[in-house]
Amino acid sequence: MESPTILKFTISLSFFCMLLLFASTLNPVFGLKNCNFPAIFNFGDSNSDTGGLSASLATIKPPYGETYFHKPAGRASDGRLMIDFLAKSLGLPYLSAYLDSLGTNFTHGANFATYASTIGLPISIIPAGTFSPIYLNVEYSEFVQFKFRSQVLRQKAQRDSYGCAKPYNEVAQYFNHKLKEAIVQLRKDLPLAAITYVDIYSVKYSLYSKPKEYGFELPLIACCGYGGIYNYSSSINCGTTITVNGSQIFVGSCERPSVRVNWDGIHYTEAANKFVFDKISNGAFSDPPIPLKMACHKIKT
Ligand SMILES: *[C@@H]1O[C@H](CO)[C@@H](O)[C@H](O)[C@H]1NC(C)=O
Ligand SMILES: *[C@@H]1O[C@H](CO)[C@@H](O)[C@H](O)[C@H]1NC(C)=O
Ligand SMILES: *[C@@H]1O[C@H](CO)[C@@H](O)[C@H](O)[C@H]1NC(C)=O
Repeated sequence: MESPTILKFTISLSFFCMLLLFASTLNPVFGLKNCNFPAIFNFGDSNSDTGGLSASLATIKPPYGETYFHKPAGRASDGRLMIDFLAKSLGLPYLSAYLDSLGTNFTHGANFATYASTIGLPISIIPAGTFSPIYLNVEYSEFVQFKFRSQVLRQKAQRDSYGCAKPYNEVAQYFNHKLKEAIVQLRKDLPLAAITYVDIYSVKYSLYSKPKEYGFELPLIACCGYGGIYNYSSSINCGTTITVNGSQIFVGSCERPSVRVNWDGIHYTEAANKFVFDKISNGAFSDPPIPLKMACHKIKT
């Protein structure tokens, strides 16, 4: 008489457990999207070293790597590691080891893990001893340097040799390229209209690339502004009065606006505007190449 009751109890208990499983694994993520992880930065030992120690202190030899890479790949396995499968599942390339100087690419992160790494200071280190000298503290300081140096490089890779912001100028050039294409189409669509394309970008750029040749100086620095290396701050406008260390300062004009390009940080001086106009007025930067005064005429190009 007892057994059916016990059985019943068991059944209902296991059912309850399943519900709990559903509750704990499915409900919290219900309706959530996958995360867009742009990069992985990994710390650890041989379980996730993708080539750090092998590139620096003790090369990993065959048959390591035989199953997947078909050659040693710096990993302590015949193939890939969990970190590789994780990277793959996130749509990222396999992680380059920070210490590897050949064929590496850190666009999607870096791997600071090294074989035989410890958390605390190792008592004996490779090559004479057992452990990696790159223990967790060193991995961390490598990461700090990586972060700092990649930011410095990025700021540099982002400016051209004249100090102009490359990515923004690339957008401007792309816009102009597309504008030119649109104009070809517009001329077809509006056969009676005279449409002139004027390349102001090139003329303005020459003010930054060879200012002295045209009688200008300090092209990147605001004539009327305050602060920073460009004499400009977005919160301190030309023509305002500010208080610095208790004294009042009027944000006014520089001594010779006539030799300056940048007026207030975001606009050109009259001298620069006149220079650009003089350059474009004769049609040298126009398509079709006719003076602006004659731009009403349709010229076959
Ligand atoms: C590095 O990887 C990124 C993304 O996978 C790629 O766009 C870039 O061209 C690579 N850089 C080099 C130098 O191979
Ligand atoms: C304001 O005072 C600080 C501290 O005395 C000084 O370092 C700084 O140069 C001063 N700024 C100006 C613009 O005088
Ligand atoms: C910076 O702006 C001030 C006005 O706030 C001006 O007096 C000064 O000459 C400017 N500096 C340079 C280098 O143009």
